Amino acid sequence: MSMQRIKSMVKSIPGASWLFSRLRDPGSSHGERGIKRMGHREYVGGLWDEVGKLQFDLLLAEGLRPEHYLLDVACGSLRGGRLFIPYLEAGHYLGIEKEESLIESGIADEIGKELNQEKRPCFVVSSSFEFEKFTARPDFALAQSLFTHLPAGIINSCFAKLRPAIADGGRFYATFRETETEVENSSEPHDQERFLYTRGQMEQFGSENGWRPEYIGDWGHPRGQVIVRYWPA
Ligand SMILES: C[S@@+](CC[C@H](N)C(=O)[O-])C[C@H]1O[C@@H](n2cnc3c(N)ncnc32)[C@H](O)[C@@H]1O
Repeated sequence: MSMQRIKSMVKSIPGASWLFSRLRDPGSSHGERGIKRMGHREYVGGLWDEVGKLQFDLLLAEGLRPEHYLLDVACGSLRGGRLFIPYLEAGHYLGIEKEESLIESGIADEIGKELNQEKRPCFVVSSSFEFEKFTARPDFALAQSLFTHLPAGIINSCFAKLRPAIADGGRFYATFRETETEVENSSEPHDQERFLYTRGQMEQFGSENGWRPEYIGDWGHPRGQVIVRYWPA
């Protein structure tokens, strides 16, 4: 039996996810305290160059061009943004993130003031997917390692709010940690905890909220996250 299957079975015991998360994280590595303790690169998962380049290469292969608008949902400390921002035309990178300090570190320590002034990326600090605060409608949207930390209700809200915000003919790419059978994830979001979903659940998040899902699966993520492409239905 695979380790993934054993993990899925243990997580399916009611209350197990909650208990494990408390045992793993008795203080809190979630939010500002966690960012202070771990630093802005480790907080979003480390593997800085590898996962940054992976996102960038995927979207370019999928047709992203400098004149497109890209929405980076949960942009963190700009692991992907530091490659997308120089590539896109000025004002065409839109980043939304709940932790303001991650965006600040991304600007100060990763892209630098000069590039920030030249490319004028737009940022919204929000945990409730307030995409309407951007003035442009994105052609491409990406949620890299966001739904891997969220319960289903919040994921559905993201899909529902993104649907009217995306440009006609736009597309949305989202990564997940896949499990063969449904598990009981924690009911609360947690940036350092793993949430698992079946392929059926990934497809349902889209189809219930006005999207047509296309499962891509393996995209070379070093920690095995899979990716799904969603088109406005
Ligand atoms: C694993 S990190 C990935 C960040 C970035 N996408 C990357 O690949 O580097 C997850 C990010 O999601 C952010 N996040 C979690 N829930 C959020 C929400 N409801 N709205 C916006 N950002 C959120 C966290 O603060 C964190 O920066």
